[in-house]
Amino acid sequence: MRLPENFVQEVLDRTNIEELIGRYVTLKRTGSNLVGLCPFHSEKTPSFTVSPDKRMFFCFGCHAGGSAITFVQKAENLEFTDAVALLADRAGLPMPRESGNGQHESGVSRKRVLEANLEAAKFFRACLFDPEIGKAGMHYFKETRGLTEATIRHFGLGYAPDTFGSLTDYMHGKGFSDEELQVAFLCGKSRKTGRSFDYFRNRVMFPIIDTTGNIVAFGGRVLDDSKPKYLNTSDTPAFKKSNHLFALNYARHCCAERMILCEGYMDVIALHAAGFEYAVATLGTAITPNHARIFSKYTKKVIISYDADEAGQNAANKAMRVLGDVGMEVRVLRMNGAKDPDEFIRKYGAKNFEKLLDESRTGFEYKLENSLSRHDLTVGQEKIRASGEICEVIAGYSSSVEREVYLNEAAKRLDLPLDVLRNNVERIRRKQLEERKAKESREVRASIKHFGDRINPDSAKDVKAAAAEEHVLGLLLMFEEYRRAVQNGDVALTADDFVTAFHRRVFEAMMRMERSEGGFRFALLGEEFTPDEMGRIQKAEIARRELTENGPSAFRSAVETLREIAAHDRVKDRDLQSRLAYLRKTKLHKGKETGE
Ligand code: UTP
Ligand code: MN
Repeated sequence: MRLPENFVQEVLDRTNIEELIGRYVTLKRTGSNLVGLCPFHSEKTPSFTVSPDKRMFFCFGCHAGGSAITFVQKAENLEFTDAVALLADRAGLPMPRESGNGQHESGVSRKRVLEANLEAAKFFRACLFDPEIGKAGMHYFKETRGLTEATIRHFGLGYAPDTFGSLTDYMHGKGFSDEELQVAFLCGKSRKTGRSFDYFRNRVMFPIIDTTGNIVAFGGRVLDDSKPKYLNTSDTPAFKKSNHLFALNYARHCCAERMILCEGYMDVIALHAAGFEYAVATLGTAITPNHARIFSKYTKKVIISYDADEAGQNAANKAMRVLGDVGMEVRVLRMNGAKDPDEFIRKYGAKNFEKLLDESRTGFEYKLENSLSRHDLTVGQEKIRASGEICEVIAGYSSSVEREVYLNEAAKRLDLPLDVLRNNVERIRRKQLEERKAKESREVRASIKHFGDRINPDSAKDVKAAAAEEHVLGLLLMFEEYRRAVQNGDVALTADDFVTAFHRRVFEAMMRMERSEGGFRFALLGEEFTPDEMGRIQKAEIARRELTENGPSAFRSAVETLREIAAHDRVKDRDLQSRLAYLRKTKLHKGKETGE
């Protein structure tokens, strides 16, 4: 969703950047700025600066920088819009909604996509309950998966018939355009004819419903073993996978104590049907920090109940970490005799699943058991290995209380003195810390060098051009008069004068915004550029702060230099091209290989 510029500005106006960043970093005042230890890389002397006047931050060590929005994006790992939403919430501003604002670049709004989804869900449901059309789907749900009609209705399940046009025709009849259907991901577009066709065919359909009751997406499962097993709605103006959990619309009413996280739609449905209405699943993706934050809004404790296979257990390990990072109490359920919760309940019933829930272990217990079961403690070498593994796990906990509790437990189980284990853990912690620091400073160094520059890879090809471009961009960022001079043609400078793709994009975005009604605003670049890119743009300006006294002639000469370099590059390029053409021709004349 593209946010109105004025709204973003309002949010920034109401955000006290000093107070915001102060929640993450201890800041000390020096003159008009504040400094502290950078939260984005590890350092001993502060190079992280906040300028409340300019409403910006910048780290001279790792070159992270930008507006309050960029900061929230980096600190909370959010998209631009979500970061704005978070700041808006803090400032007590309601996010703008729908009509006009919630526009996809295609011009299809979130509202329209939701309307289409609702209509499509009705269609899928009607198909499922039609004795003719829905026969195979209904058989699959009732017989193959053992669902009752009540459950089928409760989840609004449906069936997409095995045709290319029935949903498309139905939706056309309801007034939806091809573009709307394609943007909503309900239809594909034929490459040959350009016409729409049904995206989900011969699949049982699971609507994904958000907490306000909107149908935001669908998952569709095949009825047999063909591939892909599930098709899911991709991102649309109304849907982003990592913002949703399947069945949270129901689970949120009874989840205060605990929630169950499963892998699949069918696991969730089986659990709800068996009375565990606090089960949810991610939508065909691994759990993200964003999901973890959603959990933390609703509950204290998450019981991970993934598949019993190795993939499931690895995923459980990752989920444990992601949920632990937001301070959730996490437990892992261990299942024997069934591959997933759905199968377990069908085989052993709800009572037995309840037992598993109560026996579920904390992350540490789970790992401890796991390690103990793989080693024979009566053999000296194995005991050493097991204790090494377990100490490594304990060292990973940042809270000293937790470490102490787990050390006690481990000492008992391994039958080793507590002090010995504690020393070992402290040694591992020191090593881990050092490794992390070394890794971080390696990354920082690599990202600063032109060589291997991830943000502007072209700069390696032409360091001189990149430097000249950065200089011009820095001046343009600082002075509105320069931007105006370029805009009204007083200074001849176009996107073609930029050799490196990243700088060209920055220039284009900046000038586009300059021409718009609201004019150029640095923070709004965040809509098009990633937080890392924002840091780089900010650096171009920061590096030129000392030059504030230079006049328009300095800008003109900077542009001259850049244009000369660019022209030179073009000549070089032309030379190269004509030499290549010549070579190709002579090769042909001599009748040599003409392969390429
Ligand atoms: P599973 O393969 O474990 O499926 O994938 P399942 O849910 O147990 O399905 P059943 O029991 O065979 O019907 C777990 C989840 O991963 C996603 C789906 O969200 C699924 O529920 N997935 C799986 C996909 O998105 N695409 C696929 O092709 C497979
Ligand atoms: Mn399954």
